Amino acid sequence: MPVQFFVDPKLADDRNSDDVTTITLSYTFFRSLNPSQGKDLGRLEVASRTPGDAARGGQLFAKDCASCHSPDHNGVGPMLSGVVGRHAGRAPSYPYSDAVHAANITWTPGALDRWLANPGLVIPGTRMPISVPLAQDRRDLIAFLAHMAVVHAAGTPQAVQPRG
Ligand code: HEC
Repeated sequence: MPVQFFVDPKLADDRNSDDVTTITLSYTFFRSLNPSQGKDLGRLEVASRTPGDAARGGQLFAKDCASCHSPDHNGVGPMLSGVVGRHAGRAPSYPYSDAVHAANITWTPGALDRWLANPGLVIPGTRMPISVPLAQDRRDLIAFLAHMAVVHAAGTPQAVQPRG
């Protein structure tokens, strides 16, 4: 995560700082006592977010998601076409866990980002067993999911061809 510092220009006018030529910042990082309950800093990434790469997201989907999910039919996991913007637990006739069924969440890109980073933290008790640790991977996957809905709506679900 990039961190930016700003030095107050008034420092140059402060006579007490005349002999200051270098400012050193030092940090101490501590190991979290309870990493899984750590505060979600995803919102900080949103500010530096570049648009996801749907084509790369499609490759990740094929590798990491397609064993359980498909766009247009339920498998081990629910069908995902149209999931962006959909309320959690609403794929027709998919037998969700009670936890997801009862969750009051709409799958915005931000909610999907938090979900993919740690499903069990967003909806404790969910049956989705995997997570996507890298922010860039999540971004690309979400771009792909959004794109999939468009392709699906156009009536060519079998030709899920994300743009390059
Ligand atoms: C091993 C199987 C498995 C894999 C792999 C998997 N999922 Fe899931 N996923 C599930 C299950 C099962 C659920 C339903 C969870 C529940 O009901 O508790 C689910 C639910 C979801 C939901 C919520 C859908 C809804 O209608 O509310 C999303 C979004 C999702 N998965 C995305 C993904 C993405 C993206 C990937 C790939 C990075 C992925 N999943 C990989 C099994 C999987």
